[in-house]
Amino acid sequence: MSKITAAITAVNGYVPEYVLTNHELETMVETNDEWITTRTGIKERRIQKGEGLATSDMAVPAVQGLLKKRGISAEELDLIIFCTTTPDMPFPATANILAHKIGAKNAWGYDLQAACSGFIFGLTTGAQFIESGKHKKVLVVGGDKMSSIINYEDRATCIIFGDGCGCALLEPNTEGYGIIDAVLKSDGAGAQLLFQKAGGSLHPATHQTVDAKEHFAYQEGQAVFKFAVTNMADVAAEVLERNELTGDDIAWLVPHQANKRIIDATANRIGLTPEKVIVNIERYGNTTNGTIPLCLWEWESKFKKGDNLILAAFGGGFTWGSIYLKWAY
Ligand code: UT7
Repeated sequence: MSKITAAITAVNGYVPEYVLTNHELETMVETNDEWITTRTGIKERRIQKGEGLATSDMAVPAVQGLLKKRGISAEELDLIIFCTTTPDMPFPATANILAHKIGAKNAWGYDLQAACSGFIFGLTTGAQFIESGKHKKVLVVGGDKMSSIINYEDRATCIIFGDGCGCALLEPNTEGYGIIDAVLKSDGAGAQLLFQKAGGSLHPATHQTVDAKEHFAYQEGQAVFKFAVTNMADVAAEVLERNELTGDDIAWLVPHQANKRIIDATANRIGLTPEKVIVNIERYGNTTNGTIPLCLWEWESKFKKGDNLILAAFGGGFTWGSIYLKWAY
């Protein structure tokens, strides 16, 4: 029997309607469109407005659209991996909440927390269940309502992040398409440079933690930038070298959208010209777990069967990683 690989067979995405522009941010914090554009590449981001809406509510339309595209029912899903840093609640898992909302009665599921590298960690994890023959349909969701943990008085973070959610379906393939290789890394030494201090077991919520704004994401931007710009490029280069590929062999780089300068550095390092690099940061900002699946969703019609894709991400933790996959449709 030929080897089973895990192939992406459908992708979809959802972004909320509300557009938060750089100009609106100028009225909220001391910043300006020119600074944000030149330092990050971001012009606007989407925000999920409305009472009672959470990350899972962005996942529902994204996943329902995916199932429709693929022509399958939610009941056919075996496993849902929900990669998120902003779960609906600390527990139960947002994967379970999503499964209930879409009627995925036969799926088990869990949440995966690897900050901005979550979707890459999730795809790699999901692929194991396909490659082992255990499951036939694994749904990997990446989404965040970053606006729920952003301090809109902190110009170092509020200009970067946005809300959005994407998803991909993994199915077995025996023709050599799908996920070929992945390199994943973590280093807890970076934990204090990008984190949410309170709300966990170390600092449970108190009046004090709320007053001190410790339930918001905190980032030492410049320090994170230095790690991100080298590590995301290094890990993408490592995947290429391990698979004896050069930039010429790659059709598309699908990078995490944290900062256009980090994306450019990664593309340069692996020898890719700009037209091969997927960038939508100017419209969505950094949606954390959402960036890579949203890119796949928006570029889906341009991909050709057999295209070599390199996915790469860097995020809080620190976490980082890169996947080499052959597009399957
Ligand atoms: O996705 C997970 C991983 N996260 C990342 O990869 C993000 C990595 N970090 C970054 O993308 C960048 O560090 C930022 C975009 C967050 C900041 O850009 P920077 O070029 O590193 O700026 P900086 O923090 O070094 O600040 C430069 C200057 C400072 O002023 P002085 O000290 O030079 O007078 C800041 O106070 O820019 C100032 N500044 C701002 N000015 C206008 C900082 N934030 C802003 C702002 N608007 N929003």
